[in-house]
Formats: sequence, structure tokens, C-alpha cells
Amino acid sequence: LTISIIGVPMDHGQNRRGVDMGPSAIRYAGVVDRIEELGHTVTDEGDIQIGQADGSVDTSTNLRNLKAITEATETLGDKVFEVAQAGNFPLVLGGDHSIAIGTLAGISERHENLGVIWYDAHADMNTSDTSPSGNIHGMPLAASFGHGHEKLTNIRGYSPKVKPENIVIIGARSVDPGERELIKEHGIRVYSMHEIDKMGMHAVIEESIQYLKEERKTDAVHLSLDLDGIDPMYTPGVGTPVPGGISYRESHLAMEMLYDADIITSAEFVEVNPILDEKNKTADVAVALIGSLFGEKLL
Ligand code: ARG
Ligand code: MN
Ligand code: MN
Ligand code: MN
Repeated sequence: LTISIIGVPMDHGQNRRGVDMGPSAIRYAGVVDRIEELGHTVTDEGDIQIGQADGSVDTSTNLRNLKAITEATETLGDKVFEVAQAGNFPLVLGGDHSIAIGTLAGISERHENLGVIWYDAHADMNTSDTSPSGNIHGMPLAASFGHGHEKLTNIRGYSPKVKPENIVIIGARSVDPGERELIKEHGIRVYSMHEIDKMGMHAVIEESIQYLKEERKTDAVHLSLDLDGIDPMYTPGVGTPVPGGISYRESHLAMEMLYDADIITSAEFVEVNPILDEKNKTADVAVALIGSLFGEKLL
């Protein structure tokens, strides 16, 4: 496999500074060596250029930093499309989760029936009408199936990027009222912490793979992993931590099973904020999980 790393030093999708340093923190934690040791080839494509923004929420749209985010996600989408078109595996490093709008815009154009695994404490399915914060990092999944401000749903000139029935959310434990409605309306598959506790991560991933592969017959699957999906005791360096999360071991099992199923065709690791972290713990976890996702085994 040739893996192309794309850094996205974006912090405009929320209101805590520092998550723009996520790509540096993850590189510092040794992501390139970790993947190369597994026998893969890595090309580091560097970082996407992010413009300035003043951090205010526009009162007419309820969106914070819309212009800077649409510009950056257009650029990211083009870059992701380009590396995927060259036959490489796009590995995007955030940055806040708003960047998923760009990643999916670049990925989905090449596929008829893309699947998405959204590993997160949150559903990220708010729209400008339902968002309690105006923060676009709470909206990328809704935007990906055509809900929300037209500027966000239409990155790279098409919409939707993914069918709602091709989405699997894993780890949810903080969902807003408007998100709950969208989940119900579209029958989106959610393995919340309740299901993870009850079924165990092994069954959750087995079912997810079966669902996306056999039932939905997806032709590619994107993994969008928000580090806040994992319990903050393991990943404290995130802007919106929620207690009661997925464990370190469960997360490794999930990544190992996804590798064994040979199902993931692109991935992003987001919301690493080294300013809020303890040493570089959260980036270290991201790199360890990336190792498992690309085939690291004990023996
Ligand atoms: N639901 C909240 C909001 O819309 C929090 C979203 C957190 N999203 C994230 N990618 N960490 O503001
Ligand atoms: Mn989250
Ligand atoms: Mn709809
Ligand atoms: Mn998220």
C-alpha cells in the first residue's frame, strides 16, 4: 500500500485554539515511521493551507468561520481526490472534524456507493438550523448526506457525498435533539456506548463490516475517527471530551478487525489538540491506532 498523508491544520470549526497543531503533534508522535515499519510506502504531502478567520458566528447563518472552512475544504477535497486518483490511500490528519467535509468531497467522487464509519462521541449531524454552537465541526456528517447550508453540502460541486443508509456511527454518547431527529428520519445505524457495552466491540465491528459489505454492498469505506470517541482518560487532548467512552483496547481491536477485513480505503484522524493534552498522549494514541489500522500485529 502507498499511503499519502495530508495534514489539515484547521481550528475554525470550533472555538478552542490549538487543534490546528494536531498534524504536527501526530507527525511528532512518529506516524510516518510507524506505517513504514509495516512495509508500506508513505508520502507526506504536507499541510493544506488554511486562511484566517475571526471566530465569530454569523448571525444570519448561525455558522462560525464559514468562508475559511469552505475554502480549506475545497482545497482539501481536490488534494484527496488527486492522491486517491493516483492509487494511493489518503490518510488525513486534523485539525477539527469540519475537515471531513473536504475529505469526503474528494473521496466520494470516485465511488458509486461509498460507506462511512464515523468513530466519535458525537453524531456531528447538526445543521445551521439545529446547532447549539454554530461550530461547523458538529455538522460534517449531516453535510455529507445533503443536510445543512448549501455552501457546506456542495463542496466540489456535488451533493450528497454519501447515502445515509451507508453510514455507521460508533461510540456516540452526546447527541443533540436535531441530530436525534435526523438519525431517526434516515434510519442511520448507530452503535452508541449502550450497544458497545452490551454487545462488545467485537460484535459491533463484525456487524458493521457485514452491514457495509454484504447488505449495503459499498465499493469503498472511509473511516472518520474523532479522538474524542475514545474515553478522555486515554485521549485528554480533545476540545469536546465526553466521559464514558470507548477504551484503548476496544479501539485497537476495532482497528485490527478493520484491517483484517480489508475494508477501509481512506481514513482521517481528527480533533487532536496538543494544547489541551498531557504530554503528547492523544497523538500517541492516534499513531498507535493508525498502526493497528495498517496491519500492526504483536507476532
Ligand atoms: N454537538 C456539539 C455541537 O454541535 C458538539 C460537536 C462536537 N464535534 C466534534 N467533532 N468534536 O456543537
Ligand atoms: Mn466528537
Ligand atoms: Mn433527508
Ligand atoms: Mn467529531
